[in-house]
Amino acid sequence: MDVKAFSALLPQATEQLPRGAFLTAGGEIWNPMTIGWAQFGVIWSRPVVTVLVRKSRYTYSLMEQTEVFTVSFPREKELTKQLAFCGARSGRDFNKEKEAGLSRLAPRAGGAAAVAGCGVVLECRIVQKQLLDLDTLDSDFRAKYYGGNQALPDGDPHVLYVGEVLAAYEL
Ligand SMILES: Cc1cc2nc3c(=O)[nH]c(=O)nc-3n(C[C@H](O)[C@H](O)[C@H](O)COP(=O)(O)O)c2cc1C
Repeated sequence: MDVKAFSALLPQATEQLPRGAFLTAGGEIWNPMTIGWAQFGVIWSRPVVTVLVRKSRYTYSLMEQTEVFTVSFPREKELTKQLAFCGARSGRDFNKEKEAGLSRLAPRAGGAAAVAGCGVVLECRIVQKQLLDLDTLDSDFRAKYYGGNQALPDGDPHVLYVGEVLAAYEL
């Protein structure tokens, strides 16, 4: 996909990201998870998006079973209740599609189904993944984000999934 077309959507995506976006993995189970962190850029001469998923998330198991994912960015002040629900409840316990009242949008380029009603969609193919190495992380960040009180005793580090952007579009 063209880097220019991808870049044109980044102002909207980066502005919304701290308020929340939906990550959906490919595969049979559709389980939107709210994310607030991501990287956008160009690597290997391709537009890429990196998402970070802690190992304790149900979404982690879904990401491990697929080659694609999609990030859907709501417009400002929209789908706020759905973002809160999908950021606090696990797909292990809830059918988020039903309980949050979300619906799927068929992918255009082979990514995962997006969340209907969003403003920007990035469909991606996983080209690299790695477990965050806490030994090489800034010590303050490590203490703050991977110290005590995490879901797993090892600090519940994120797995970084680098996705080549297959399609980026506005709805
Ligand atoms: C605003 C917001 C941003 C979040 N960002 C992330 C993130 O980037 N990575 C992550 O692993 N969890 C993140 N979470 C937490 C997950 O969304 C939450 O644990 C969710 O219930 C996991 O769902 P799952 O078990 O169905 O995968 C975020 C939550 C909120 C509310």
